[in-house]
Amino acid sequence: MNPLTRLGRRRASVLSLLAVGALVTPGAATAAPDAPDAVRASTLGAQAAQSGRYFGTAVAAGRLGDGTYTGILGREFNSVTPENEMKWDATERSRGQFTFGAADQIVNGATARGQRVRGHTLVWHSQLPGWVSAIRDANTLRGVMNNHITTVMNRYKGRIHSWDVVNEAFADGGSGQLRSSVFRDVLGNGFLEEAFRTARTADPSAKLCYNDYNIENWSDAKTQGVYRMVRDFKARGVPIDCVGFQSHFGAGGPPSSFQTTLSNFAALGVDVQITELDIAQAPPNAYANTVRACMNVARCTGITVWGIRDSDSWRSGENPLLFDRNGNKKPAYQSALTALGGTTAAQRADARSAGSAAALPSSFRWSSSGPLIAPKPDATHNIAGIKDPSVVYYNGKYHVFASTASSAGYNLVYLSFSDWSQAGSATHHYLDRTAIGTGYRAAPQVFYNTQQRLWYLVYQTGNASYSTNADISNPNGWSAPRNFYASMPDIIKQNIGNGYWVDMWVICDSANCYLFSSDDNGHLYRSQTTVGQFPNGFTNTVIAAQDSAHALFEASNVYKVQGSNQYLLLVEAIGSDGRRYFRSWTATSLAGSWTQLAASEGNPFARSNNVTFPSGAWTRDISHGEMIRAGYDQTLTIPACKLQYLYQGMNPNASGDYNLLPWRLGLLTQTNSTC
Ligand code: XIL
Repeated sequence: MNPLTRLGRRRASVLSLLAVGALVTPGAATAAPDAPDAVRASTLGAQAAQSGRYFGTAVAAGRLGDGTYTGILGREFNSVTPENEMKWDATERSRGQFTFGAADQIVNGATARGQRVRGHTLVWHSQLPGWVSAIRDANTLRGVMNNHITTVMNRYKGRIHSWDVVNEAFADGGSGQLRSSVFRDVLGNGFLEEAFRTARTADPSAKLCYNDYNIENWSDAKTQGVYRMVRDFKARGVPIDCVGFQSHFGAGGPPSSFQTTLSNFAALGVDVQITELDIAQAPPNAYANTVRACMNVARCTGITVWGIRDSDSWRSGENPLLFDRNGNKKPAYQSALTALGGTTAAQRADARSAGSAAALPSSFRWSSSGPLIAPKPDATHNIAGIKDPSVVYYNGKYHVFASTASSAGYNLVYLSFSDWSQAGSATHHYLDRTAIGTGYRAAPQVFYNTQQRLWYLVYQTGNASYSTNADISNPNGWSAPRNFYASMPDIIKQNIGNGYWVDMWVICDSANCYLFSSDDNGHLYRSQTTVGQFPNGFTNTVIAAQDSAHALFEASNVYKVQGSNQYLLLVEAIGSDGRRYFRSWTATSLAGSWTQLAASEGNPFARSNNVTFPSGAWTRDISHGEMIRAGYDQTLTIPACKLQYLYQGMNPNASGDYNLLPWRLGLLTQTNSTC
């Protein structure tokens, strides 16, 4: 299909959504902390809580008398899972005789320490008393199973955040089917559905999880089997709220597809949790990769390690945990904490000596110019709006690239000027007259690649495309478009829904270049290549962030903050008033994880409520734009102080065909800079 028509349709559908008022409030928008440092905690639980997650551990009632054990337990974790004490052989050893002493001890202790509790587990073929596995009559077994679920859940009703309703029901190997167990063999495959329905009735406040091991690698038959079951449950309204990935890993850590697996399950509408993490020999990287996979998936709500010290582990011979036998933190502890977004003592000392006072504030105030750049239609370009600016200051001039919008669709324009007061009088060079060509080109991003000594212009054409030029001031120097990808990466195909693939953005650190892009379905994607291979080799596409479609809309920008170890992510959102605004996050690495900075409507990065308009409030939208950078190269470095942001806005009374809306460019200048 003609991309022009596609784009027009996309915009039209966004508008009709606005028209019927079908707006969503950003789900993950919460008040930002006081200062970036305040979002870095020094314990696992406290740091996980900063992103609304828990970090838990399995607890054995028999160890609660050990002071070293309980010391770490109380300090580091905000969720606990009884390791064995809620299993069938512990709670109903003989039919109808329930014993809760050890489980009570754990739950009461957790409550006293302010920790949340995961329930583990109600229906499992293992640690199951012989009297249950001996049952051959379906009605008897059904009654026994439902009574067990109901009685145990009732005991802790309202006190368990997530219950593993069914554990390990799928077979290992290539079948993708249920394993043989008394439950499947006597009741048939429907026992899972029955168990979940019973559980929902018993404690409607608990999240109901399916939990299993070896379902972390996306292409494994077992993973696919569980995925099909969850998809079927969701389609038929069988109550299921989460999937637990046990994550008992070998020394290699998680499979490379782990994050994909988590996000694919999350896309079915369930939470995902890492429920029993341990990794042979506890390599720090393997722990970091596991934690990052969770942090990168919005619906990954928490991580539980399967024990505290190596000596507490069911795999103690493999030393798979975060604390050694003496209760000392191992290197894996530091990497897990860092991956959660926290700082270790050593990192805090480094940051102090690097003078990271240059970091960004956690709330912003701006003053806006009036509209500085408006379309300049000519005989062959009947332009209605000028949009999506990219800007560098180089060789004494601002060089601005932008999208042009007209009834014919989208293309690009270039202008340069020495001072913002000259912006309105600059000549507009339409880039469809160059080798960039006619057709759908939009949302440009410009930077200089210092290794290759070439300017790059990145833009969308339906694919992610780029042109190069040795001289930024020569509009005719741009090469014809080339694509970064052979075709849309699979993970985008799987998640894009009915929207479109837009707003490509490249940023490099000293080793790698990253290509970010958005869909209209709440996903920010990230691909990666090495600095040496760039512009080729973009692979490893992952979901870098996700939220509801309006909370994580389009126009992502990623920058390096000068003089600090911070990266800044900005993403445009659609607010509850239907107007565009920007949310912000920071990270210490381009691969995430992203911590909210000013990310809510009340504390936005830039929205009509934190912008003043001394020369008149000409727009309610603070939409697609770019920061004025401190440099012009591929690192996209911005100053930490006195920020300026070039954005698109428009007359709030304008309406009609999206492609004909009167977008203009204006400049925000930060008014609350403290340095
Ligand atoms: C393990 C416990 O850690 C051991 O103490 C016990 O002897 C056996 O079970 N999958 C699960 C957990 O769901 O309940 C298991 O826990 C580990 C594998």
